[in-house]
Amino acid sequence: MNPFPRTLITGATRRVGAEIARQLHADHDLLLHARHAHADAEALAARFNATRARSARILCAELGDEPARAQLAADVGAAPLDLVVFNASRYAPSDLTAAPAMRNAELRAFLEVNVVATWDLALRLRPLLTAAARARGDAAIVVILDLYAQRPLPGYEAYSISRAAGGMLVQALARAFGSEGIRVNGVAPGTVLWAAGAQRGETDAVPARGTALGHIGSPADVAQAVRYLAGARYVTGSVLPVDGGRSTHV
Ligand SMILES: NC(=O)c1ccc[n+]([C@@H]2O[C@H](COP(=O)([O-])OP(=O)(O)OC[C@H]3O[C@@H](n4cnc5c(N)ncnc54)[C@H](OP(=O)(O)O)[C@@H]3O)[C@@H](O)[C@H]2O)c1
Repeated sequence: MNPFPRTLITGATRRVGAEIARQLHADHDLLLHARHAHADAEALAARFNATRARSARILCAELGDEPARAQLAADVGAAPLDLVVFNASRYAPSDLTAAPAMRNAELRAFLEVNVVATWDLALRLRPLLTAAARARGDAAIVVILDLYAQRPLPGYEAYSISRAAGGMLVQALARAFGSEGIRVNGVAPGTVLWAAGAQRGETDAVPARGTALGHIGSPADVAQAVRYLAGARYVTGSVLPVDGGRSTHV
């Protein structure tokens, strides 16, 4: 058996996903999901493969598209699959004044990428995870959620609704998969990295003020929590806040 656990990470090639990949690559072989093949993905995989031959492969899929998800699951290949990290997400403001058809379509798009895709892939990949659990005594899913799974982010209503559903998905799948030795947990970050285009510095002070620690986090903080949950053999159905204590601030 390959000594390195096989891990699929969605949205793995940029920003927080790339940091999760960097931290896991030390002792995992990686399937790096990206929406499209792009230079960042190629560069990351090349760096990993230079360190350890054939330790990283890129898989592309639009997660909002069911046939593309089916192809992604098929591209993962044969069992076992030890760990899946659902990191990719759709993130954008809501326009509550848009025409009804538009705002309804917008909520459906959030649910499709942030909830249905996770549900669909977790169930499609279940046999591969079960095989890993049989072989090594453990397999795991980690879903990256958000502090705003617990309370709404004003202006991002559809996103917040989809994140709250993601929290229940973690608990429901933890119950459903537990007897097969597959653990399912979540990580709920506070602010760790500004959306592309946001002005760092101008905006940092606001979320930092709401934390107990007085500063925002980093992608490495999220990756560290993923590593913990990947190896925490008696932890399932939990969502770990990684928010500097911001969720304690009502
Ligand atoms: N950044 C933060 O401070 C923060 C705070 C709380 C929670 N989080 C959560 O942590 C995770 C990582 O954060 P991030 O800021 O790095 O996320 P991000 O940049 O907004 O998105 C991560 C990845 O998701 C992929 N993605 C989005 N829609 C997709 C789709 N329809 N099909 C396939 N891939 C899709 C993107 O691919 P492309 O690059 O190809 O578009 C991107 O690589 C996310 O789940 C996010 O919600 C982040």
